[in-house]
Amino acid sequence: MVWLSCGLAALAGLLFGMDIGVISGALPFINKEFDLSPSMEGWIVSSMMVGAAVGALSAGSISKNMGRKRALLASSLLFIVGALVCVAATGPTLLWIGRILLGLAVGVASFTAPLYLSEVTPERIRGTTISFYQLMVTVGILAAFVSNAAFSYIESWRWMFGVLTIPAILLFFGALSVPNSPRWLAAKDRFDEARNVLSKLRGTSEEVEYEMSEIQEAISQESESKGWAMFWRNSNFRRSVFLGIALQIVQQFTGMNVIMYYAPQIFQASGFEGTSASLWATVVTGLTNVLATFIAIALIDRAGRKPILFAGFGIMAVTMAVLSFVLYIGATNTALQYTGLAAVLLFVAGFAMSAGPMIWTLCAEIQPLQGRDFGIGASTGANWIGNFGIGYFFPIMFAGIGGAWTFGLLAVVNAVFILFTLAFVPETKGISLEKIEKNLLSGKRLRNIGT
Ligand code: BGC
Repeated sequence: MVWLSCGLAALAGLLFGMDIGVISGALPFINKEFDLSPSMEGWIVSSMMVGAAVGALSAGSISKNMGRKRALLASSLLFIVGALVCVAATGPTLLWIGRILLGLAVGVASFTAPLYLSEVTPERIRGTTISFYQLMVTVGILAAFVSNAAFSYIESWRWMFGVLTIPAILLFFGALSVPNSPRWLAAKDRFDEARNVLSKLRGTSEEVEYEMSEIQEAISQESESKGWAMFWRNSNFRRSVFLGIALQIVQQFTGMNVIMYYAPQIFQASGFEGTSASLWATVVTGLTNVLATFIAIALIDRAGRKPILFAGFGIMAVTMAVLSFVLYIGATNTALQYTGLAAVLLFVAGFAMSAGPMIWTLCAEIQPLQGRDFGIGASTGANWIGNFGIGYFFPIMFAGIGGAWTFGLLAVVNAVFILFTLAFVPETKGISLEKIEKNLLSGKRLRNIGT
């Protein structure tokens, strides 16, 4: 039952990834058909992120009132409608509306899926299952890159959007068949149902009773204030909300999506001329992203979150510095071109084994139960706002100060994130959500709430 629930929530990850990956391949053909102005082009790309930020911020109250399961159902319906509007769009405005709907869907899904996973899985595999969700994000991006390449031969951007409906329909039927989150049921005073679901998810009745008592205790301690009210009243809760927001901003400012959205252009700037060469390099990037996520899955519940984050930020800082150097001296020979390519691939691997999965995991773990919807809503919203910011500003910086300085800056930023991790990030490996919550609310330093 746990794995069924995970498989389903992971489908939401797949859609997240496909939404991110589809546009880079579809845009040239959309442009050909509709002759977009630069600002309309910018809007068609970024409207998805804006919709996602709105979706993520409203997902908190949707999933609190209707439950995680119905929130996933709502998101799958939005996906289907959004994709169909894009497929049938007769002009840029309809396409723009379709992208906003897709954004709303991905916003709700990217909020609900990790939350649901953190609530149904036992703590000893919690990190692994949330990393599995991130794995599906990367598979979604790769699937979109490959589908973009395949449909580019018939120049059909409509099909590129059309394929999004397949996982969305699967998500719809999957969401119908999984149980409600026991923690959500308990928060709604439906204790018998919560116990019932838990007994399907856990091996022994001792485990069920132990977890139920932890959940009940967590609920009784905080029932007086929730969401916004809790945010204003409880300074300890504010700390976890700000930590979640900061973590997601950090994730976006590593620069990963610069590579995801603009890889073909970057490869061309580092000497790989011709669309097909850069297109293949892009597919290799997507594949590296998928494969390196397995490193995280294998290590997250053994080595812990922090050591992997240190390693990842280190790798990203060094590889960005190398890429910056290659662009600075000019990729004039094959050795330098391949050094640039290797730097990009290693950067992607560094992200995929660390900040990708670790940050979604941490954000789902650090919020106390009564404020979890609010806290994860805020951090997921920050993820999409950061995503919009980086996608919007990168081309401006690239044109303004050039690739060498832009990537040099990203190298410095990633090095600073090592210090951020040292100062603020807790280690949450193998500890129950309720214990983390107790530590947070008793005023322990953020970096110590996992001990
Ligand atoms: C990030 C996305 C990113 C993806 C790449 C996710 O964790 O939130 O913004 O595109 O990883 O694999």
